[in-house]
Amino acid sequence: MITTVTTAPIAGQKPGTSGLRKKTPVFMARHYLENFVQSIFDVVGAAGKTFVLGGDGRYFNDRAAQVILRMAAANGAARMIVGQGAILSTPAASHLIRLNKTDGGIIMSASHNPGGPDEDFGVKFNMPNGGPAPEGVTEAMFKRTTEITEYKMMEAQDVDLSAIGRHQLGPMIVDVVDPVTDYAALMETLFDFPAIRAMFAGGFRMRMDSMCAVTGPYAVEILENRLGAAKGTCVNATPLPDFGGMHPDPNPTWAKALMDEMFGANAPDFGAASDGDGDRNMVVGRGIYVSPSDSLAVLAANAQLAPGYAKGLAGVARSMPTSAAADRVADALGIGKFETPTGWKFFGNLLDAGKATLCGEESFGTGSDHVREKDGLWAILLWLNVLAVRKQSVAEILTEHWAKYGRNYYSRHDFEAIATDKADAMITALRGSLASLPGKVVEGMTIAAADDFAYTDPVDGSVSQKQGVRILFGDGSRIVLRLSGTGTEGATLRLYLERYAAGPDGLGLDAQEALAPVIRAAHDLAQITAFTGRTEPDVVT
Ligand code: G1P
Ligand code: ZN
Repeated sequence: MITTVTTAPIAGQKPGTSGLRKKTPVFMARHYLENFVQSIFDVVGAAGKTFVLGGDGRYFNDRAAQVILRMAAANGAARMIVGQGAILSTPAASHLIRLNKTDGGIIMSASHNPGGPDEDFGVKFNMPNGGPAPEGVTEAMFKRTTEITEYKMMEAQDVDLSAIGRHQLGPMIVDVVDPVTDYAALMETLFDFPAIRAMFAGGFRMRMDSMCAVTGPYAVEILENRLGAAKGTCVNATPLPDFGGMHPDPNPTWAKALMDEMFGANAPDFGAASDGDGDRNMVVGRGIYVSPSDSLAVLAANAQLAPGYAKGLAGVARSMPTSAAADRVADALGIGKFETPTGWKFFGNLLDAGKATLCGEESFGTGSDHVREKDGLWAILLWLNVLAVRKQSVAEILTEHWAKYGRNYYSRHDFEAIATDKADAMITALRGSLASLPGKVVEGMTIAAADDFAYTDPVDGSVSQKQGVRILFGDGSRIVLRLSGTGTEGATLRLYLERYAAGPDGLGLDAQEALAPVIRAAHDLAQITAFTGRTEPDVVT
């Protein structure tokens, strides 16, 4: 039985950098999830279509899945492919969308944001190519939420999502699939599993921290079961609705236990962590941290060592705030390089058009054309493949990389939960000052250019304005400021800092030390303390 429920628009259902994210109680409130899901179906159409559904397992994931299934059935969808227990990592969902040639998918996740009754929840729609809906589509969904008057709901019992196999929800088919199988098979096609297996068999030790989030079962199956890593290599490998109270964001601040182990006595050879929904990664060597920007560059330089990339790369794309380290590799390889706005959705066209093979963001996101999302375990496996072939340590590989290409010292400083009006005032003032900046000397560095980044998609010509303020110095140093589009509390200011050292001297400094003048210049130019009252960042990566 299908009922049409009368509703009214709810303010603020605007998808951000990666879908709609709100506090869980907001999502659980009357009509909230339903209005947004109906708006998705109203925009993309549901009748006769097949969608993938899954999420990172956070609190409310299971209930939301049942609601979405009943609404899909009521809207006439033909078939839903659902991860067992309504669980799918974001990259695994992207793969299933592509593998089954579906009409897209709904992913329930707030990524690296904490989960629980008082934490965050999120919903996003991915397109038939497996990638996040582009801005034009999310704008249409948002517009629809402002006009909505009713939604459709099927009255039915819950589907037993614990049972793999075919179920029915009215006329709609619900296929419950193992979340890991297809994804693991894809990884086997890309990487040299025998070489990695031999490396583990030879005593190579790793610690993989899944942060009590979705990648636990994927990591155990691939690393321990298929590649023979020692039992116990994967820690925090059981996904929990509240991520065990952890902040499932793989960076040195939130994955501190991993950092301590990798810098401690008897550290393993390699450490890695992934986030709530499995699309982010952090990699660490024994006694050496790999910044995500450097990771992208090293992977681009070495990807050919993995069977899936043996033919070479078409190009490398990075988000604008990501350091230019990958550009240097692209130049050396003579392949394309692209600079996009923040957010994985901007890589979709480049990947679809075959212009880029590898993509990355400074925010612990790395991926390739194998799916249309960033992919944490993929990046970790590519690193393992490189380590297995080169038979060197992470430290040796990084040191050689910097010696060859120079080093882009890089850091991001986050100032969280700033009052929105204060953050907006700061950015507005900074934007207003941009025209007067070129030629100005700060901290002994001359400003060469200053602008608000705008991007014209080279494939479809769409233009995205105001994607972050850039202040570029004559010596290659750079400051970028933008406000986060994924937070759920006040505003988060992201300050991105970069400085290039050509070498051979000065390649081994501490990043914060090397960046000190750039950090001072940023505070001076943006007047961060005067506007926000903050002197120190909350998170440094
Ligand atoms: C953040 C990151 C961005 C990433 C996004 C989704 O967005 O900065 O690179 O694509 O999360 O994981 P932001 O909060 O900065 O808008
Ligand atoms: Zn994520």
